[in-house]
Amino acid sequence: MKSKVIIGSLMVIQILAIMFTIQFLSISNQSHDTIAFVPQVFSQTPTDDFSQNEKFDFKPDYKESFVISDVNFLLVNSLSSLVMILGVVKLLKNENNKKIKTEKLAIIGELSSRIAHDMRNPLSVIQMTLENFKIQYPLSKEQERQFEKINRSIFRITHQIDDIWDFVKSPTAEKKNCSLAHLLQESLRRVNIPANIKIRLPPDDCKILCDDEKTIVVFVNIFINAIQAFEDDGNIWVSFDSNKNWITVKIEDDGVGIDPKVLDRIFEPLITTKQTGTGLGLSCCKSIMESQGGLIKASNRPKKGSAFTIHFSKQ
Ligand SMILES: Nc1ncnc2c1ncn2[C@@H]1O[C@H](COP(=O)(O)OP(=O)(O)OP(=O)(O)O)[C@@H](O)[C@H]1O
Ligand SMILES: [Mg+2]
Repeated sequence: MKSKVIIGSLMVIQILAIMFTIQFLSISNQSHDTIAFVPQVFSQTPTDDFSQNEKFDFKPDYKESFVISDVNFLLVNSLSSLVMILGVVKLLKNENNKKIKTEKLAIIGELSSRIAHDMRNPLSVIQMTLENFKIQYPLSKEQERQFEKINRSIFRITHQIDDIWDFVKSPTAEKKNCSLAHLLQESLRRVNIPANIKIRLPPDDCKILCDDEKTIVVFVNIFINAIQAFEDDGNIWVSFDSNKNWITVKIEDDGVGIDPKVLDRIFEPLITTKQTGTGLGLSCCKSIMESQGGLIKASNRPKKGSAFTIHFSKQ
């Protein structure tokens, strides 16, 4: 859009320059006398109007002045043509680069969603086999510790795959009336909650108009982030509020809080402060909430930890 406006403006400038030159050349060819009037007037101006030191001897040969003016106009015209050509070439180059970039991103998107999809099955096979092993063979403390390590790694890979999958999937939402209590329970079922972390859910339930599967993705991401924000033990509080237009769900934690350096940008893709993070989790949450006419905001709590407010539209 911007490039079209620039090309349009350059063309208008160019057309004006050409018209101006043509008009000038036709006047100069048809009636040199009329134009010659200007130098004549100058040559008749009394020298008194000028300073003593200045000698007014401007008596140009008008033919010569036309040649100079014609050359000037042609020069201006050629320069404007050159500027225009350079501008158009640069814009076309930029457009081309943008197109190549968009195509590349589309290919990467398609490829990563395929890899993410294909990796899910073998991962769940590994996880199930591991569970079977634990049941079939009695494990020593050390072996249990090793198994737990493998489990955590599988969870991390699964989460990263889910992130990519959710990021590339189109965020179209199918809204229906859902129970908040059910959504929260289902989300927590999908998260590994360490024993030293307490989760306090709202005592009452309410109905939310949303896409249940996508909303669970939002809650899961926020719970995982909260759990990752604890140095040791911690608390997560979930509460909700309602007014005429919105149901607002608040998820707070008393973890380390959001780094002020990234607070303004945590909903942008690839923003992460974690060594193993993809930085796609909250960006997915944002696009999911926007796709269902809602909002998500983040802040730090006054004393400790962070707060995420998720607004669901009632319409
Ligand atoms: N509850 C929280 N407490 C502190 N910082 C947080 C919290 N939630 C998010 N953040 C910050 O926001 C950043 C972006 O979060 P996001 O979920 O998008 O990506 P991530 O957790 O780094 O990686 P992943 O894609 O694996 O989720 C995090 O790296 C972290 O710095
Ligand atoms: Mg995350």
